[in-house]
Amino acid sequence: MFKIFQSKNKPGVIPEEIKLDYQRIPKHIAIIMDGNGRWAKERNLPRTMGHKAGVETIRPIVKECSRLGVKCLTLYAFSTENWKRPQDEVEAIMNLLVQYLAKEFDELNKNNVVINSIGDIGKLPEQCRIELGKAYEKTKNNTGLTLNLALNYGGRDELLHAFKGIIKDINEGKISESEVDEQTIADHLFTAGMPDPDIIIRPSGELRLSNFLLWQCAYSEFWFSDIKWPDFKTDDLHRAIYDYQMRDRRFGKVK
Ligand code: FPP
Repeated sequence: MFKIFQSKNKPGVIPEEIKLDYQRIPKHIAIIMDGNGRWAKERNLPRTMGHKAGVETIRPIVKECSRLGVKCLTLYAFSTENWKRPQDEVEAIMNLLVQYLAKEFDELNKNNVVINSIGDIGKLPEQCRIELGKAYEKTKNNTGLTLNLALNYGGRDELLHAFKGIIKDINEGKISESEVDEQTIADHLFTAGMPDPDIIIRPSGELRLSNFLLWQCAYSEFWFSDIKWPDFKTDDLHRAIYDYQMRDRRFGKVK
């Protein structure tokens, strides 16, 4: 049974007992930024206002992850399935991405963040691709947090890309079939070279993975909460990390 953190009982308050172990901060945190639409609906606002509010949540969370020494933060911003949403909502999300990069670039760069993307970004509107490319080029030599924006990302699509890449490598004689192992697959994913997520956070009350990091989540800890993403605060991040640190990770072994 999943334990869901009920924000209603403890609104934005870190209980006294929360003391993070700074030696055991997760290396990779992945977040499904869910609940923007419902947040807006509760306020009689258009869904796009929920996404706008959701972008505001990103800044303090990225800053705190940097401060804590997290190596990778992956944010699920747009899935391969999200194209099926109304066109104006899709356009609004793409515009928010461009605005986010323009507005936050200096601060992110100053904080030594690498601005990276995962997903099949070739299918994004041209301006998004250009801005993402520029942001990555200018920050790729930074040594702090890697911020992975998952855009047109789907776990199955990523695996399909990886398998096709491996078949190509075999056909071109770069590797032999017998050499293919789990590491070969990991090396062909968008997250190649990054640690697997230690914790996957999903606010908004939904208890599913929605095609996110399907290969990489094999031993991730899951943290669910009923907080909607626009209401997610650094206190909630601390709570998630604290709960993660209380978990007993055995990776299939016996202690
Ligand atoms: C899920 O909530 C959220 C999305 C599909 C989009 C998230 C996008 C952003 C926060 C903005 C753009 C991203 C960046 C990186 C600037 P939902 O719409 O499914 O909410 P609901 O389940 O309540 O309807």
